Amino acid sequence: MREIIKNTGSVYFSSSKWDILNTKINDLKPSTIFILVDANTLKYCLAFMLNKLEIKDNYKVLKIQEGEINKNIKTCEYLWNQLSENSADRQSLLINLGGGVVTDIGGFVASTFMRGIQFINIPTTLLAMVDASIGGKNGVDLGIIKNQIGVINNPAMVLICKDFLNTLPKNQLKSGYAEVIKHGIIDSKSYWDKIKIFNELNIDEMDAIIWESVVVKNNIVTIDPFEKNIRKKLNYGHTLGHAIESYSIGNHSIPSLLHGEAIAIGMVLTTYISHIQCGFPKETLTEISTYIFNKFKKIEFNQDDIKHIIKLLKHDKKKHDNKVLFVLLNDIGKHQLNFEVPQKMIFEAFDYYKNIGQG
Ligand SMILES: NC(=O)c1ccc[n+]([C@@H]2O[C@H](COP(=O)([O-])OP(=O)(O)OC[C@H]3O[C@@H](n4cnc5c(N)ncnc54)[C@H](O)[C@@H]3O)[C@@H](O)[C@H]2O)c1
Ligand SMILES: [Zn+2]
Repeated sequence: MREIIKNTGSVYFSSSKWDILNTKINDLKPSTIFILVDANTLKYCLAFMLNKLEIKDNYKVLKIQEGEINKNIKTCEYLWNQLSENSADRQSLLINLGGGVVTDIGGFVASTFMRGIQFINIPTTLLAMVDASIGGKNGVDLGIIKNQIGVINNPAMVLICKDFLNTLPKNQLKSGYAEVIKHGIIDSKSYWDKIKIFNELNIDEMDAIIWESVVVKNNIVTIDPFEKNIRKKLNYGHTLGHAIESYSIGNHSIPSLLHGEAIAIGMVLTTYISHIQCGFPKETLTEISTYIFNKFKKIEFNQDDIKHIIKLLKHDKKKHDNKVLFVLLNDIGKHQLNFEVPQKMIFEAFDYYKNIGQG
């Protein structure tokens, strides 16, 4: 079993060692156990997990509708009420069984209910395994503005069981792989070289990739849990990516995009900007852009779309003094924080994106 032991938020990766979760639950001695699922994890994951757990009847399942559209305060209010009506107290435990939407909402609801109850993340998507379930960022969207409300608070533990990926739709696997690609680009050439030749649909061989990504993320969040400095590099591609994701949710001019699909576009745009502003090597830019172009669907943005996306950037939490600040790279693994990017450059980056794959 692979593991990272910490005071809070220890991460375990194993398909067979569910004992570790049973032990944790015994240690925590919860008064009541709540299990948060969405419609899909209720269908595909809950029975599998219950089969592994020693808890028998003393749990209550809380169900929410799936999808980013439900990652909002209304869903939290429903869950706070459910906890309250089912006599949750400060010794209750919430187990979040799901993708990033479930772990983000569940972590936030648990962190705020009665000023905080314990929670455990059991990620069931690739994205949640390598990214969302780790690092303690929990929260919800405000309207279409991503992750505007939230807290940083670690789960009691994270247990990654790759078996859940067997029922995950392929587009969701790819979306999760976007965060793996991000980890490669921000970490090192050696990791990027492994990622770019790996088939992201090959779940059987995925252990090493999942774990290396977990380690990359964990190393960064351990040094800088509250994102004062180096944690910002985990936002690579996200400043533009989040604005694109928000725009795609609230608008019909472009198709609705999954988180990873939007982040993949954000990474191409940001790598182009890194090339122009920070001398990121041209050939590596071409390599990354072509790779992403071949893996993810290409979206056509018109000038009006781009203007709206730029407007949404002003909500970005990385902004300071009303300036939107980007994480750029000089090269793979070499970041530059707090870079101010002129609007003209963003239009130019979209132009570059438009022309990828056109010879
Ligand atoms: N907190 C963080 O640090 C962090 C980091 C990255 C992303 N995020 C957030 O994570 C969210 C995206 O996460 P996601 O991609 O996991 O989305 P998600 O939770 O919406 O899951 C994707 C879809 O897969 C379904 N699903 C989940 N597990 C399944 C399984 N095993 N089998 C079949 N279907 C399954 C879900 O019901 C959903 O329809 C975004 O809201 C993003 O902002 C948070
Ligand atoms: Zn992300």
